[in-house]
Amino acid sequence: MSALASATSPFGGAVDFDYRREDFQALSKLVYADAGIVMPEGKAMLIYSRLTKFLRDRGCATFAEYIRLLNGDAEERRRAINALTTNHTKFFRENHHFDHFAREVRPRLVKRALAGGRVRMWSAGCSSGEEVYSLTMTLLGEDKSIARQIAATDTAILASDLADHVIEAGKAATYPAHVAEEMPPRLRQNWVNANGSEIVMSALVRNMVRFRQLNLLGNWPLKGMFDVIFCRNVMIYFDEPTKAKLLQRLCEVLEPGGFLYIGHSERLVGSGAQVCEPVGPTIYRKHGA
Ligand SMILES: C[S@@+](CC[C@H](N)C(=O)[O-])C[C@H]1O[C@@H](n2cnc3c(N)ncnc32)[C@H](O)[C@@H]1O
Repeated sequence: MSALASATSPFGGAVDFDYRREDFQALSKLVYADAGIVMPEGKAMLIYSRLTKFLRDRGCATFAEYIRLLNGDAEERRRAINALTTNHTKFFRENHHFDHFAREVRPRLVKRALAGGRVRMWSAGCSSGEEVYSLTMTLLGEDKSIARQIAATDTAILASDLADHVIEAGKAATYPAHVAEEMPPRLRQNWVNANGSEIVMSALVRNMVRFRQLNLLGNWPLKGMFDVIFCRNVMIYFDEPTKAKLLQRLCEVLEPGGFLYIGHSERLVGSGAQVCEPVGPTIYRKHGA
């Protein structure tokens, strides 16, 4: 408990650290500026609870003191922003996207890859890797001998996120055993190894994925275009201009004829909507192939 254990928050309830409306406003502005994430006043106590451990670590008695520290310490600011991201995800979330990919997209990508062509996919806002591993397992498929051939082609899958703690989790590729139930049984049998109370993605799957820390609002030092982009449940935290700009940029790096998958409550807005057509629920195909 800090010396201010009896402070009262303007957002209701007793708090350990002095936390004023202007502190919330400063932090909300900061997370918007750095990550595009909109934090309305309803999230004030969420910000409080996610940052108190940092105040303790840094020996700050009030949020005002911590905010002063953040303004002069880029690394601490990054840690705070990371902690304010919401990373909820699961294997085969919104399963109809993987069904669509397996049915409509995979056959042509596999054909091209096996004929010596280049295949690129991107999970943008990948969190701890469940999405990109679901996609990779679906690409590799049920036939292990074809999967080994695919793995030997010029096929690469990028997984990126703003938050480094989830990038590290994705690289570790280790999850609680019960999440295996979220996977189609044949894919699970092929691509997951049991390890006590945990599961680990198989080496073939892991080796196809490159994890990178990347802010979707910043520069994208990417080489080439993508055949498939998953950017799901990331834009829900953004305002309309940020969504439109991001979608425009995603569509710019999508190959003609490429596919964009977005989250169930998201929609294609801005100029991206002029270059892509809907081909399924929250699935879009870029014109021009
Ligand atoms: C709710 S998770 C979605 C994970 C996965 N795409 C899914 O649908 O299951 C949202 C992810 O977006 C990331 N994110 C938020 N703002 C971002 C930004 N500006 N640049 C890159 N990633 C961001 C968060 O760190 C978080 O891991």
